[in-house]
Amino acid sequence: MSNSFTVSLVPWKDGEPLLKSIREAVFIKEQNVPAELEWDGLDEQCRHALALSHKGDAIGCGRMMADGHIGRISVLPQWRKQKVGTAIMEALLNYARSHDYKQVDVDAQTYAVPFYRKFDFVEEGETFIDAGLPHIKMRLKLLSG
Ligand SMILES: CC(C)(COP(=O)(O)OP(=O)(O)OC[C@H]1O[C@@H](n2cnc3c(N)ncnc32)[C@H](O)[C@@H]1OP(=O)(O)O)[C@@H](O)C(=O)NCCC(=O)NCCS
Repeated sequence: MSNSFTVSLVPWKDGEPLLKSIREAVFIKEQNVPAELEWDGLDEQCRHALALSHKGDAIGCGRMMADGHIGRISVLPQWRKQKVGTAIMEALLNYARSHDYKQVDVDAQTYAVPFYRKFDFVEEGETFIDAGLPHIKMRLKLLSG
């Protein structure tokens, strides 16, 4: 199928050039996030999900820190609305569940709240501005007690 894709988890050292190409296009160029905020020095500590097209092109990514904080979920514009973001989230959530994380959270851009609600994330607190964009914290409990 021409728009098929795969998602896998990769360490930063293996995925760096492809992960950077997506985030450069989406956050720095499209959303005008300053480069010094995008490259925050935390990537080496994170688990990364990378989506590749059937041709091997990098089309989307996301990351999760050891404390369950999810971020940098991004899909190239021409690949949006085809469940690539969903597959990236599922890869990170599967990792979190299989490693007994009690909860995960995300600082969601407010326009993307419906995207995270699909995975049962719930908003918490007030909206705030980060990198010039409105955000709200959302949390997903994975284990009770
Ligand atoms: C947010 C983003 C990652 C979604 O990726 P995607 O691959 O298009 O998402 P999916 O196709 O898996 O969408 C799943 C569901 O999320 C919701 N959704 C997706 N994009 C949405 C949007 N822009 N606005 C509102 N809801 C949205 C829809 O309910 C959608 O289900 P539907 O297709 O049945 O309507 C993508 O739009 C993106 O890269 N945006 C730019 C970067 C960004 O802002 N990242 C979020 C940082 S918090």
